[in-house]
Amino acid sequence: MQIRVLGSAAGGGFPQWNCNCHNCSRLRQGRLNASARTQSSIAVTSDGTNWVLFNASPDIRAQLESFPDIQPARNTRDTGIVAVVLMDSQIDHTTGLLILREGNPLRIYCTDMVYEDLTTGFPVLRMLEHYCGIERHPVPLGPGESFTIAEAASLRFTAVALRSKAPPYSPHRHDPHEGDNIGMQVENLETGRSLFYAPGLGLIDRPVQRLLEAADCLLVDGTFWRQDEMQWAGVGTKLASDMGHLPQSGDDGMIARLKPLTRPRKILIHINNTNPILDEDSPERTQLRAAGIEVAYDGMEITL
Ligand code: MLT
Ligand code: MN
Ligand code: ZN
Repeated sequence: MQIRVLGSAAGGGFPQWNCNCHNCSRLRQGRLNASARTQSSIAVTSDGTNWVLFNASPDIRAQLESFPDIQPARNTRDTGIVAVVLMDSQIDHTTGLLILREGNPLRIYCTDMVYEDLTTGFPVLRMLEHYCGIERHPVPLGPGESFTIAEAASLRFTAVALRSKAPPYSPHRHDPHEGDNIGMQVENLETGRSLFYAPGLGLIDRPVQRLLEAADCLLVDGTFWRQDEMQWAGVGTKLASDMGHLPQSGDDGMIARLKPLTRPRKILIHINNTNPILDEDSPERTQLRAAGIEVAYDGMEITL
């Protein structure tokens, strides 16, 4: 199984169009040892041809253009994308669906809660019925339930409900429902190796902890370093927890939770532009390195 990080930033990307925070401004001025990043998405394949896209970011056009392997060019109009799996209904994970409107019906895997948001508050799936059309498949959340995708038959997908946050436009923003946000275990049935992907993760409960321990590679929420990072960076007042993200620092933060895990390769993804770990020379980045934790970048490839 091959994993390609199409976009490693959180909503807004890095640098964000209107942001002059310590990171965005220094990156623009060429004074930061860091790479620009597009918004949150990965693609996974087991055969090198048929790709399962996780999330569709507003940057998808550029992401696909910079990744020739996902365009096999077998026909005048073609794509290697066989399905799109949505982890939530957030803008940074779903607006890219509009950019895929020219093709064949989109095969979309999402929970009932995400389907509800995407047919009401942000009715993108209704809109697409007038363009390419969609073929929607529910993501099961029952214990022990998994699913497979026909063209990617050697992969098995198992979703877990996460404690994170529905988008601000959703009626569930302050009224959490199971399936507003999910994490996904992707197993390669040929090698027995597995990925756990959770770009928005507010709390590590027992079921999530078990998946973290069982995986060979983690791509998990790296949005914020600090709980009060928006305020600290002078860009807002919401706390990381208000937005459904577990910060890296702190006694029960992401570093403390990942450090003891010995099996998986540990990678943070969905990094907000305010996060000091984007600066490769920062003490925070040094702390991550010491804990054996990597930071995803656009174009990163992982083989499992
Ligand atoms: C999030 O991950 O919290 C959201 O994508 C934030 C946003 O939509 O700006
Ligand atoms: Mn996001
Ligand atoms: Zn910024």
